[in-house]
Amino acid sequence: MNPKVEIVPVFDDNYTFVLTLPGQNRAVVVDPGDGEKVLSFLSEKGYELEAILATHHHFDHVAGIESLCDKAPVEVYCFKGEMSRVPGASRGLEDEEEIELGGMRFKVLHVPGHTSGHAVYVCGDALLSGDTLFLGGCGRLFEGSPEQMYRSLYDRILPLPDETRIFAAHEYTIHNRSFCISIETENAALQARLDEAKALREKNHPTVPGSLKTEKETNTFLRCREPAVARAVQAKAPGTPDDPVAVFAAVRAMRDVY
Ligand SMILES: [Fe+2]
Repeated sequence: MNPKVEIVPVFDDNYTFVLTLPGQNRAVVVDPGDGEKVLSFLSEKGYELEAILATHHHFDHVAGIESLCDKAPVEVYCFKGEMSRVPGASRGLEDEEEIELGGMRFKVLHVPGHTSGHAVYVCGDALLSGDTLFLGGCGRLFEGSPEQMYRSLYDRILPLPDETRIFAAHEYTIHNRSFCISIETENAALQARLDEAKALREKNHPTVPGSLKTEKETNTFLRCREPAVARAVQAKAPGTPDDPVAVFAAVRAMRDVY
């Protein structure tokens, strides 16, 4: 069964996700940046905190863990390689490990690039993608090479089903898609999705979740194997080799300064 995923906006542009089975009240919280906000959401909904998952150690994803655990001591999971840096982490996970929490099954994928121990979680049709995959973008390479991030995205995330719902941890969609269209100027699907994101944000609605199918069609970071994308990147960054990893590295470098 697919989980119900609810969004708690925190800070300027972060999202914390609360997963439950439809009709049930055992909640798994992913990336609680702000404990107070998450606690009031849980009590408003009548949910019981079952467990906490962290995608990576950055402050805006983990700052609420300790205050949540003060109120309801639960297991705090992250990838084993990130454990020493996630406050309150109690259980390190292996790549490909599957755990059952609140009646839901979560599969762990270790996807280095943004941080060395970044994990994403697959639960039914939901992908909790943290700061690895955004709508129209991907995370900055703080602790990884372009090749590592490329492998994480192309070998681990792209093979998931097209209908996968992507719950990215930041509302960066308009800026990301504006950047993508600065490269893929002829991509009509991308223009339509940018317009759609603007309309959602005007009403203060999240653009998340997106679908993997849409990202394959519109997220330039996932399209570096397309010859037309390579040519568009080479027009902006002359001398970029045809190799998809090199194209990806050039896209990431351009986005860093966009
Ligand atoms: Fe981060």
